[in-house]
Amino acid sequence: MHADVLTSQDHMALAERWGAHDSVPFPVVLSHGEGAWVSDLEGRRYLDFHGGYSAVNFGHQHPDLIAAAKAQLDRLTLSTRAFHNDQYGPFCRELAELTGTEMVLPSNSGGEAIDTAVKIARKWAYQVKGVPDGAAEIIVAGANFHGRTTTIVSFSTHPNHRAGFGPFTPGFRVVPFGDIDAMRSAVTANTAAILLEPIQGEAGIVVPPKGYLAEVRDLCNETDTLLVADEVQCGLARAGTTLALDHEGVRADLYTLGKSLSGGLMPVSAVIGRADVLGVITPGGHGSTFGGNPLACAVGRAVVRLLATGEFQARSRELGAHLHARLNELDGVTEVRGRGLWAGVQIAEEQVAGRRVTERLAERGLLCKEAKGHLRVAPPLVVTREEIDLGVNMIADVLA
Ligand SMILES: Cc1ncc(COP(=O)(O)O)c(C=O)c1O
Repeated sequence: MHADVLTSQDHMALAERWGAHDSVPFPVVLSHGEGAWVSDLEGRRYLDFHGGYSAVNFGHQHPDLIAAAKAQLDRLTLSTRAFHNDQYGPFCRELAELTGTEMVLPSNSGGEAIDTAVKIARKWAYQVKGVPDGAAEIIVAGANFHGRTTTIVSFSTHPNHRAGFGPFTPGFRVVPFGDIDAMRSAVTANTAAILLEPIQGEAGIVVPPKGYLAEVRDLCNETDTLLVADEVQCGLARAGTTLALDHEGVRADLYTLGKSLSGGLMPVSAVIGRADVLGVITPGGHGSTFGGNPLACAVGRAVVRLLATGEFQARSRELGAHLHARLNELDGVTEVRGRGLWAGVQIAEEQVAGRRVTERLAERGLLCKEAKGHLRVAPPLVVTREEIDLGVNMIADVLA
């Protein structure tokens, strides 16, 4: 059967029968996207307030990104790191210059970048800090979300993310997010790193108390501990600055990037940061067949060029202020968290029947994801003020 002749129902049935059940997708079958809009197989258009979990910061099918990918597809897509390619070096340099960092280690998924950062922090602890072999610890925050690998779920506090997947990787301590005293008490002579999302995404777009991230930075300086900022979701203009930590005037030693590093075209991630820390990686100690491939690097370079204009950071700040103001006015909304064009919208308990709200929004033409009583709003940063109003009005209708 040719895919073109299948109906949406057919596609959902195929996914249910032949795909593993790792998600409960909405009953829409998307087939096209442009800017802040997507459409399904039947041609119905939806305003996208989901934004691919922040991967589609530059909108669907951004012409510059598509052009960069098409041009590179016609030349070379894979060299592996066994050979140089003519996109890797420029990508590393341009990304480092954009972010004010010194070195780049490209990879594929966000989870892979986190795993890699864990390896780097541990090796740095043994080689540089002098932690006894095998004793390095990494401190993380409760309610974190850093991905799905066995090591990463080892320090998740979400029961669903761990159930059935043990034995878990040792070497992690969990403290409450935003509690500097708890963090201070958890640091020992064996602490290699503190790994944090500067704004917790999956936890509900939770911004820590003012000054917390600067205090964590000070603690790291006092105790010779690395600060690793997971900016896979909050970075690359989503929160109104190139890196979310920039807003606090705080620098991390390592950052992880992913999602929007390709604008949603393909998996591209990276660990970036201090050269003396990334320098513990030596040949044979790490590697990836696809990491740093020329197609990924060409698309990543186009993303860096978009971010270098500052336009997307400014849009996120300015339109984000409008989005937050509008959401705060809605009846039934008890709290709006977040920064920039990124909002965790807490809805009064009695009005939420979980997914019912998002299903009704989808019926009206707005795609949005719910999680435990809140709506997450993360439209592509190309969204206009009028489109924000349109989406917020739909949310108001559904809540009424
Ligand atoms: C903060 C953060 N880190 C890491 C990841 C994992 O990224 P990936 O799904 O590409 O492995 C995510 C994914 O949502 C995330 O939000």
